Amino acid sequence: MIGVYDSGVGGLSVWKELRAVMPAEQFCYVSDGAYCPYGPKDPSFVIERAQAVARFLIAQGAELIVVACNTATAAAITTLRATFPIPFVGMEPALKPAALHSQSGVVGVLATAGTFKGRLYLNTLARFSGRVKVIEQVGTGLVELVEQGILEGPEADQLVGRYVQPMLEAGADHIVLGCTHYPFLTATIEKLVGNHAVIVNPAPAVARQAQRVLAELRERTGKKGPAGVSGVSTFFSTGPDETLQKLVRQIAGDAADGYLYHSLYII
Ligand code: DGL
Repeated sequence: MIGVYDSGVGGLSVWKELRAVMPAEQFCYVSDGAYCPYGPKDPSFVIERAQAVARFLIAQGAELIVVACNTATAAAITTLRATFPIPFVGMEPALKPAALHSQSGVVGVLATAGTFKGRLYLNTLARFSGRVKVIEQVGTGLVELVEQGILEGPEADQLVGRYVQPMLEAGADHIVLGCTHYPFLTATIEKLVGNHAVIVNPAPAVARQAQRVLAELRERTGKKGPAGVSGVSTFFSTGPDETLQKLVRQIAGDAADGYLYHSLYII
């Protein structure tokens, strides 16, 4: 079973891609909504939450955990790998492909405060800041909108506009979505961006990486993957799960009928 974890519903944008490349696998998703958003919180707190969730997922039988949250990856992936005996796949800041493909030499990155402070991001920035101009923007309030299920409409237009418009005005031809909640705002972002910029979502690449890591793991341990055609997903939430259930159905359609939802009070 593959564990997937986020501060809330954002990681579903990664689960969507994981499901697409590994349709027979079982997934166990934890939304830590009681503590969302992670972005403005102290990294030590995010590490504590990541450890608690990882412990829970391993107890559920996770062979591999995908940290489907840029902020948690930035704060906790090193600690998680040092603490637990299973592999972890984290979110990669997609600044690299954006910088490599940019024609205008200007790239916009929308992420949380925690992600911008992370070593992974800062290392990538140091590598590419000579090549492109990087406009960083903390997407304050966007995670909260997505958690409420507000993906389109005047409120979303206004907040997305406030953050993305200045990037376009500065000539950005790539907008990197550095938080897994933001792909749910793609329609709103696309409306603003038109064909002036490419929206970069790292989730498909992360899903392919998870697939590679799982294949290597099974080869090493001799453990077989599932034989069935369609894996079942189970969802645990420490907070409200209305938006989660709505988005799961939007992504999975009728397959969502077989999925299970649980509230999680113990971690
Ligand atoms: N989905 C998150 C991320 O990728 C978490 C955002 C938050 O909780 O602030 O960073």
